[in-house]
Amino acid sequence: MTESTSPAPARETLRIALVGHVDHGKSTIVGRLLNDTGSLTIGKVEAVEAMCKRRGMPFEWSFVTDALSAERDQALTIDSSHIVYRATRRDYVLIDAPGHHEFLKNMITGAAGCDAAVVVIDAAEGVREQSRKHAYLLYLLGVDEVIVAVNKMDQVDFDQRRFGEIESLFGDYLKEIGITPMCFIPMVARTGDNIASRGKRMAWYRGPVLAEAMDRLARPKRPIDLPLRLPVQDVYKFDGSRVIAGRIESGRIGVGDAIVFSPSNKTGTVRSIEAWNAPETITEAKAGSSVGFTIEEQFFIERGDIVSHETDLPSETNEFRARLFWLGKEPLRVGKQLLLKSNTAQTPAYVCAIEHVIDTEDLSVHEAEAVERNGLAEIVLRTQSMLALDPYRVNAATGRFMLVDKFAVVGGVTSIEGFADERAMLMDRPGGRFVVEHRVTAEARAARAGHRGAVFWLTGLSAAGKSTIAIEAENRLFHLGFQVYVLDGDNIRRGLAADLGFSHEDRTENIRRAGEVAALFAEAGFIVISAFISPYREDRAAARAAAGEGSFHEVYVKASIETCEKRDPKGLYRRARAGEIGDFTGITAPYEEPEHSELVIDTERLTPEEAVEAFVDYCRKAVSVERGRSETGG
Ligand code: ADX
Repeated sequence: MTESTSPAPARETLRIALVGHVDHGKSTIVGRLLNDTGSLTIGKVEAVEAMCKRRGMPFEWSFVTDALSAERDQALTIDSSHIVYRATRRDYVLIDAPGHHEFLKNMITGAAGCDAAVVVIDAAEGVREQSRKHAYLLYLLGVDEVIVAVNKMDQVDFDQRRFGEIESLFGDYLKEIGITPMCFIPMVARTGDNIASRGKRMAWYRGPVLAEAMDRLARPKRPIDLPLRLPVQDVYKFDGSRVIAGRIESGRIGVGDAIVFSPSNKTGTVRSIEAWNAPETITEAKAGSSVGFTIEEQFFIERGDIVSHETDLPSETNEFRARLFWLGKEPLRVGKQLLLKSNTAQTPAYVCAIEHVIDTEDLSVHEAEAVERNGLAEIVLRTQSMLALDPYRVNAATGRFMLVDKFAVVGGVTSIEGFADERAMLMDRPGGRFVVEHRVTAEARAARAGHRGAVFWLTGLSAAGKSTIAIEAENRLFHLGFQVYVLDGDNIRRGLAADLGFSHEDRTENIRRAGEVAALFAEAGFIVISAFISPYREDRAAARAAAGEGSFHEVYVKASIETCEKRDPKGLYRRARAGEIGDFTGITAPYEEPEHSELVIDTERLTPEEAVEAFVDYCRKAVSVERGRSETGG
């Protein structure tokens, strides 16, 4: 049963990036490798040959890869720089890193992670700055399976000494940065020497040819063995339940698992799992697959949260050290604000410190005021929202981030271990808000304003009269000298709650936010008149708790559904009946009538004038300083 959980077992795939200086022959190597292993479809080479002849140019192997990328047949997925090569032992995705910008960007964003790399060096030109830079990037990105291809050996007369020079020079460099290459291979990609078969012209070389060396690379690290990390991509409503969707970056998730959403710190239990490509619901899903799952609990879940097991949580912090690769045109300085993006989460972040920059030439480390374009550095970032993350070396998926400035990717960072986990502090947060000790007391505010702050929470069906009463009462109270402000559902939903709809969970979140804002206004000394349908008792109770018992007054603006439907000022009931609006309160969604509200205003019996009158009277008494709240408090 549990083994029927994943689709047909995939063949092992190893992703290999080809890196190195632009002209050192990366695509020629790929073209030749595909040809010499018989991986090209018949006619491909001939077509390129004919094309070259027509244009009067010599045959170019790199055109073969260009032709392959352009045609995008099914074997060649992802994008133009990815080519799939099916060897006997396993499949390879060959990633031709077009330039280190693209390469780094893709690695950091996870668009093109790789398990291993082939560093290509031109035998005649030798080790160039770009070769070093790329190697260093490999180290930063944690890629330590490396083959070094010393290409164009024909241009140095197949000289073993020249090869030896490069091997020792670049070998030392790699050793210094902590990479032990599997082997150095002398080759002539153009003619296929030491690509798939041994070239006769370098008999002195006894090591593996490229195809063999690739087969000897270690198996890819399996994210499945790491703890569960599933970034929430979206939440869909599906047959009356909420399906949380996302890609499992690492680990596995199973029905019945106790899970935690970070950094929102909500906990739940997995009820069911659906995989998009499996016919039925399944009991377990693994890293690499995209799934939808439901949980037993009902609460608002945010895109960007990371799902993990209770027993193996990511860290939560808003400050961490990171390795930076800077691509921005302007040098990066302390104080710069950027958008930090990872999987599905994003938050503004700013640079607190540049600890040091790293010279990729000699790997020396020095202090600097700024990080120049294409520079490497260690920096400290502070984010506006809490982040759920892991050190990059522990889990790449949750340890790498993109830096975005005005919609452009301007850099990438990977998190360095050692940041503080602030989860415990977040969980202890009383009432969900940071408690700040004001030195201005509620009494002092009340004394100056001449009245107390309080929340008057109007609840009732759409068209019951909440907004009408609220707006008219606000006007009256204002002119009587009160500090008063209306919070209206229609307004809040345009800004603060613009991301929310009308499902049970979304309404709960809408009312939670409105309740918190109302409480803050009341604390500041305002009379808050809120007008929200707030159909669920539990949500209204939460709003009451946010403001505090004595400062909260529930006002039931009462009218029957028939009356409201007859009034229908916005034509919404008609549209709800016509099926154009779903989850409509009173029609297709519930309204839980208040049982113990402090005030009931029946708008079927009272004229609007009388209703406002009654409400304003009640408010004035409730906030009066002399008589205090005992007279009317709930
Ligand atoms: S609540 O349920 O979350 O408290 P809220 O008071 O913010 O609702 O918003 C209600 C307003 O949204 C209504 O006055 C109406 O204009 C609009 N609206 C749009 N769709 C719906 C719906 N399905 N149910 C109720 N109100 C809706």
